[in-house]
Amino acid sequence: MAEVPQTDQRHPVERYFSRGARRYHEYATFQRQIAENLAARFLAAVQPDSILELGCGTGFLTRELGDRFPRATIEAMDLSPEMIQVAREAMPSHPVRWQVADMNRWRASQPYELVASSTALHWADSLSMQFRRIQRYLVREGNLVAAIMAADTLTELRQLRLEVAPDKVPERRLPSARQLRVALAEAELELCQWEQVTCRQTFRSARDLFRTLRCSSFTGGPFAASSSRPLVRSELERLHRLYQQRHGDTQGNVHATFQVIYLRARRH
Ligand SMILES: C[S@@+](CC[C@H](N)C(=O)[O-])C[C@H]1O[C@@H](n2cnc3c(N)ncnc32)[C@H](O)[C@@H]1O
Repeated sequence: MAEVPQTDQRHPVERYFSRGARRYHEYATFQRQIAENLAARFLAAVQPDSILELGCGTGFLTRELGDRFPRATIEAMDLSPEMIQVAREAMPSHPVRWQVADMNRWRASQPYELVASSTALHWADSLSMQFRRIQRYLVREGNLVAAIMAADTLTELRQLRLEVAPDKVPERRLPSARQLRVALAEAELELCQWEQVTCRQTFRSARDLFRTLRCSSFTGGPFAASSSRPLVRSELERLHRLYQQRHGDTQGNVHATFQVIYLRARRH
């Protein structure tokens, strides 16, 4: 009998994160920093008893939530079982309820006083829909506290990519500050705190930048490529070369722009 080829039926985003879960925990220093900034500056205003975290990954924000609110019940959800497994191992003594689930489909069985998320909400199919869902998950006066990667992230790379392969436009764009504000207002979430940070990070070379982006699953997947037509080797090599030439300094270091929006919004 002929063998039926096995296909991987998982959600492409799940596959993307699951493949590199352990590597993510080690390399994602920027995401770790973002989760720590979010906690330090945006959690001081809340005192929740019940918390839902969306896209918890390997638990950078979950740990902050557990340390700051030891009496609260915490449910932490992620699409990738491998990311959750790494988080579970890293925080064995925190009584977190870990859940493997898709934030685009999941339904809350109870309302929460706080919904939190760090560098994950931009992965939702639709941010507007996601904010509406979050509004329904919150109790009255409940808060959403989130850090979201925004549109000016990796602008240098995006422009070069279009130059190298103009017919292979990435499927997704990160949200702009304006889109975020509109989506929050439409979801009837009142903005209470907002911080927009644009920074330039330095890498030892274009290769180092590309490796870091790959290992930390920063904004890859649909933000980096068209899944039906990924860049071929020659296009990738040209991209590396052009990046080094246009954004490198005399020592060979290259720069890349990142934009993060930190926010707290409240349900009436
Ligand atoms: C860049 S990581 C951030 C993880 C973590 N919050 C942190 O601060 O390191 C994005 C996470 O979102 C998760 N994710 C993406 N799409 C998701 C979805 N539809 N439902 C739940 N989690 C999702 C990924 O599996 C990944 O763990």
